Formats: sequence, C-alpha cells, structure tokens
Amino acid sequence: MSQQYNIARLGHQGDGIADGPIFASRTLPGEIVSGTLEGGQLTDIRVEAPSDERVKAPCRHYKSCGGCQLQHASDRFVADWKLGVVRKALEAQGIETEFRPIHTSPAASRRRATVSVRRTKKGTLAGFHGRASGVITEIPDCQLLDPVLIAAIPSVEELAMIGGSRKGELAVTLTLSEVGLDVSVRGGKPLDGPLQMTLAQVIAHKGWARLAWDDEIIAMANPPRQRFGAALVVPPPGAFLQATKDGEQALLAAVLEITSGSKRVIDLFAGCGTFSLPLAETAEVLTVEGEAEMTAALDQGWRMARGLKAVTATTRDLFRRPFMPDELAKFDAVVLDPPRAGAEAQISELVQAKRPVIAYVSCNPVTFARDAERLVSAGYRLNWVQVVDQFRWSAHVELAASFTLSHMND
Ligand SMILES: C[S@@+](CC[C@H](N)C(=O)[O-])C[C@H]1O[C@@H](n2cnc3c(N)ncnc32)[C@H](O)[C@@H]1O
Repeated sequence: MSQQYNIARLGHQGDGIADGPIFASRTLPGEIVSGTLEGGQLTDIRVEAPSDERVKAPCRHYKSCGGCQLQHASDRFVADWKLGVVRKALEAQGIETEFRPIHTSPAASRRRATVSVRRTKKGTLAGFHGRASGVITEIPDCQLLDPVLIAAIPSVEELAMIGGSRKGELAVTLTLSEVGLDVSVRGGKPLDGPLQMTLAQVIAHKGWARLAWDDEIIAMANPPRQRFGAALVVPPPGAFLQATKDGEQALLAAVLEITSGSKRVIDLFAGCGTFSLPLAETAEVLTVEGEAEMTAALDQGWRMARGLKAVTATTRDLFRRPFMPDELAKFDAVVLDPPRAGAEAQISELVQAKRPVIAYVSCNPVTFARDAERLVSAGYRLNWVQVVDQFRWSAHVELAASFTLSHMND
C-alpha cells in the first residue's frame, strides 16, 4: 500500500498541507490522500478518504485550468476558511475583533481578466494558464468571468494572429466598461505603422470601446467609462479596478459606513476614485495615488460630475513620502487601500497623527494584521472586519476594517 498523508490545513495558496510540510494541491483538511512525493510536493494525488466539504467542481475546465484553486470545496468551507485566514492573521498579532458575515461575489461576475493567447501551428490558443504550468487552457465555459468577457475570446485570438509573435505570448486584459469592452494588450509585436493601421481597422468592427497596445492607445471608439457614484471616470489602459462591481459595492458600503458624518476625508492609494468620488457626495476629499495618469483620470471624472463636494486629486509615492501628521491634521477620517505590501511607512505617520476614524481596505491579511497591530498599540480600536470575496474560488482574501481612536468608544 502506498504511503498515506493526512491533510491538516490549507496554506495561503489554498493547497492542502500534511505534516512535513507536504503540499497537496486541491485537497482539504481532514482528507487522507496518497500520491508521488517530489521535494515536499505530492503529485498524482488520490483522495483515499474525502472530506464532507468536498464537492464536484462547478466548472468543467477546473481539472486543467489554473484560474481557480478552490472549486473542489463547498461554498461554506471556502467562506469559513477565508474568514479564518483573516482571524488567524489578527490573532498572530494579538488582536480579536468582530467579524461581519463574509460577502461573496456571485459566479460569472468578474468584470476584468487577463487572458493569455499565443499562436500555434494550427492557429491560436487563448485562455488561462494551467495549474503551475505555462500551458494555456481554453475556457469557453468559465464560471468566473462575466459572459461578455468570454464572448470576446475569439476576438482575442484574432489579435494574436495579427500582432502576436511566433514564439511569444500575448497578455490581453479585458475590462467591462459602461460603453463596451476596454482591451489592453501586452507582449505583442512592436507597434509599427502597418500594425497600428490593421489593429485600428479590426477594432472598428468589434464594438470595443478602446484598444491599447503596451499602454499606447490604438483606437478609442468610445471612452471606456467606469461609474464611481455620480462620476464617470475613464481609467488609463490596464489601471487597477476592483475585480467585481459587486465586490466594489460591498467594500464601498463599508468605507461609507465607517466614515459617515466625516466632513473632510483623505483617501490614500485612491486609484481612479472608487471610494473618493462616492465619498465626495457628502465630504470634501483629498485623494492620493502613486500613478499620475490615474490621478488625472480621477480629477477629470470629478470635474465632469455634478453635485459633488471638492475633490483635490494628488500624485505621491506613499511608500517614500507618506503623509505627515501635520498634513493629516485637518481630516476627520482616513481611507487607505494599499497594494499587497501594505502601508508600513504611512502607518508610522498615522499612529502619530491620531485622526479619529480610519477605514482600512486590504487585499493581504498578513500585511493588514501587521499594520492593524501598530494602530491598536497606538490607541485605536479595531471595531469590526468585513471580509469580501470578490475572487471567488481563489485563495485571495479582501477586507474592509473599521478603526476608531479608543477614547471615542468610551
Ligand atoms: C489596491 S489598489 C486600490 C485603488 C482604489 N482604492 C480602488 O479601490 O480602486 C492600490 C492602489 O495603490 C496605488 N499604489 C501602489 N503603490 C503606491 C505607492 N507607493 N504610493 C501611492 N500609491 C500607490 C496603485 O496604483 C493602486 O491604484
């Protein structure tokens, strides 16, 4: 009989882990598995005793596609696991708090995805990379993406025929906008005059809003607007956007609740104004973002909108030049939504500035917990955490958290 392994827990990538540690992808805690052990990784896995939480994957591509990691687990298991990831990260920093029920975005709601495509001997191949491999898996029945994105995949293949090199792979980011698809391509042939002309002709027949090639806009039939509250913003090609509109709304609702009643808000790591522009319906907002083009898009969106309070959009590297206590003094509330690295330098200044309310949105529970510990040590109370799962069936975890200065809770 081949050796058996007991899966004790899931790691941060969603892989099952047995003592060793031995990693076994797509297994669940409590399962007994066997397989071939290669350098701490189990392959050719056989599930000898399945967990009660194991389910049939809803997507027929799950076996080969690497886009999802947790379709073999029940929705209840995934929800509890994601809540547990945040709870444990906080506990490791000595913090307990209230957890609101998780908000999970529905299937088929991803409004933005990067599809890989390459030329083959027979034509083209487009889809997501396979599990831990460079092989592309076709995904015509993907359960994750909005159907409009899936319907565009044949056109993505056409782009590869026109502008893909024989060996390389194109990364094509498809984003839904208010007026059609916003398409941004990387990794294609260098853009010369004839290629630019061919691409411009192609887009004319597709009904796409915009096509960008290595960030250069080739054609824009319609500015691809995104709605943030009362404002419409045209983000630069490939700019950050929350993964689902549903998840964005859940994070926004948390941010608005935490900051409600505030008259002057600073929005740090503001992107194109996902939170700032809705906040400006009731508060004056200073936005800070590292990418100048995103700041310009946000500013333009505010200028065209009606009925909003003042929004001052600025560009600044918050890792190198965080906002200082004297600059923060006039704000009643701080919103921050940093990248995965967290906001270490900015937190050092926030703990000195002691603004009464902080709404912290995070895509990395570990750096969030690290930053939360510093806020709590400086006298903040972590009132509650709202976990938002907009990367359904993946190991990603996002959250919004409410902090207030402790004496305000007395
Ligand atoms: C997680 S996104 C959030 C954006 C926005 N709050 C939203 O919800 O759409 C993080 C943002 O931080 C910006 N960013 C990354 N590093 C930065 C830095 N060092 N200084 C300022 N902004 C930075 C990114 O460009 C990105 O827009």
